[in-house]
Amino acid sequence: MLISNTREWASLNKHYNEMQHVQMKEMFVQEEGRFERFSIHFKGLLFDYSKNIITKETIDRLLKLAEAADLKSKINAMFRGQKINTTEKRAVLHTALRYPVKASYSQIFVNGEDIYPDIKRVLDKMEDFVEQVHTKKFRGVTGKKFTDIVNIGIGGSDLGPAMVTEALSYYKVKGIRSHFVSNVDGTDIINTCLHLNPETTLFIIASKTFTTQETMANANAAKNWLLSKLCVNDSKNKGGTTPIIDENLPVKKHFIALSTNIPAVTEFGIDPNNAFEFWDWVGGRYSLWSAIGLSIALSIGMSNFRDLLLGAYTMDEHFRNEDFDKNIPVLMGLLGIWYRNFFNAASQGVIPYDQYLRRFPAFLQQLDMESNGKHTTKDGYDVDFQTGPIVWGEPGTNAQHSFFQLIHQGTQMIPVDFIAFKENVNDDGTQHNILLSNFLAQTEALMKGKTAKEVAAELKAAKEKDAAGILPHKVFAGNKPTNSILIDKLTPHSLGMLIAMYEHKVFVQGALWNLNSFDQWGVELGKQLAKKILPELQSNDKISTHDSSTNGLINYIKNL
Ligand code: F6P
Repeated sequence: MLISNTREWASLNKHYNEMQHVQMKEMFVQEEGRFERFSIHFKGLLFDYSKNIITKETIDRLLKLAEAADLKSKINAMFRGQKINTTEKRAVLHTALRYPVKASYSQIFVNGEDIYPDIKRVLDKMEDFVEQVHTKKFRGVTGKKFTDIVNIGIGGSDLGPAMVTEALSYYKVKGIRSHFVSNVDGTDIINTCLHLNPETTLFIIASKTFTTQETMANANAAKNWLLSKLCVNDSKNKGGTTPIIDENLPVKKHFIALSTNIPAVTEFGIDPNNAFEFWDWVGGRYSLWSAIGLSIALSIGMSNFRDLLLGAYTMDEHFRNEDFDKNIPVLMGLLGIWYRNFFNAASQGVIPYDQYLRRFPAFLQQLDMESNGKHTTKDGYDVDFQTGPIVWGEPGTNAQHSFFQLIHQGTQMIPVDFIAFKENVNDDGTQHNILLSNFLAQTEALMKGKTAKEVAAELKAAKEKDAAGILPHKVFAGNKPTNSILIDKLTPHSLGMLIAMYEHKVFVQGALWNLNSFDQWGVELGKQLAKKILPELQSNDKISTHDSSTNGLINYIKNL
């Protein structure tokens, strides 16, 4: 049965009819303690959801919907390692990757095998490798220490590591610069290599499958660049300090692989000792916690990487054990459903008021939209309700000077998550207070708006001659919902908590809509067609095998 056919859904529909015109600002006036009622403080993270169009009854009805969807058993099924990724017949166990070594050990079996010894083995291997690079024991083929790490990957093999490496760059170890290459557009790898010294550059090829077209093209380009610079038998050799004769050596010394496909890694020429494995029960967009996080660990050190895992584990425990009415990811997910399915809000904004979290919205786009951008339930039925929203955002305050106009005065409702840190790792407070005052002002403005009466009074005080003409343009309807997520300080631990919080929010929504949030068949068709078109672009023939638009475009590129 579709969730939309339940009594609980119908009851929310009815409740929506009562709530749709209720003004938050009036609820704030009438309800003493609204902030205390609708906010949760958990280990240095404050989740304030009081600026939403909700009453206690709304939350109660949403919680009943969660019960109707059997959310509790679905959460347990994920943590226990049941094969909840049904179309790929896989368990979903990124949470096992952040299981702390010191926690009381509980076994998780996948296909009859306890997975924890393997997780620990790879983590220890990562630790050893990071140590060797940082202490300069692991060096390039000409004996020089590594100064630049280039992660080559795309999607989950890029967005997570790139976002976290930048977010935690305050904690980075000295002497290592990190680069991320993802786009198959040659400009990405060419521009990156332009400023690199081949003798001191380490390439990390991050790919779960080790077959992804973009990643393999960039990996091959990197290999060719390295060989052309270091090997004497190449005409383009610019000569490192010690030219290398054996072509296999630079790849063995300068290439690391992170993958589930070790045979393909070996075939590429990478030393199996330099391959860090993970497993099919780690989804791409949930993989930064696995060996895919090696670029993060190299940038911030293994102890900080383990703190990141621990932060995520802290949120896992909260999500798994806390009652739903005090459970942050559960409430976030339910609020999203309230707006998506009852208010018909098509998109969800995410605005981090922190420059280090610049790439956080892009990371969330894959996490949310690749997980819940689906129209079929797990049982194969078409849904008759909306699923995953469009997720978008940019850092505050820049976003305020760009698209906030539309959020304040546009014609659609856009719920927005505001994220900020109480303490700024760099700033003594001077600019941080300006930043925080904007963070606070925006949610207040979105909630309160400005009435015609208030505008009229302002115009009168300003002695505006065309008051009547200007007045309608200055009215803000207000009543725009926001969540405020205020964290003590940006640390590896708090970032781990934040990311895991969003992962579980996405899980909650997928569970209620009864989707498989862990496959991504929607990206396959384009990939298949690109493979068909590539040889057509390379041939000299006029192409007529597609629709007239695609044929026309191909032939135009080929000047035919
Ligand atoms: O875009 C589809 C996808 O499969 C993502 O889910 C994944 O993160 C990305 O491609 C990269 O895949 P891989 O790590 O196998 O190269």
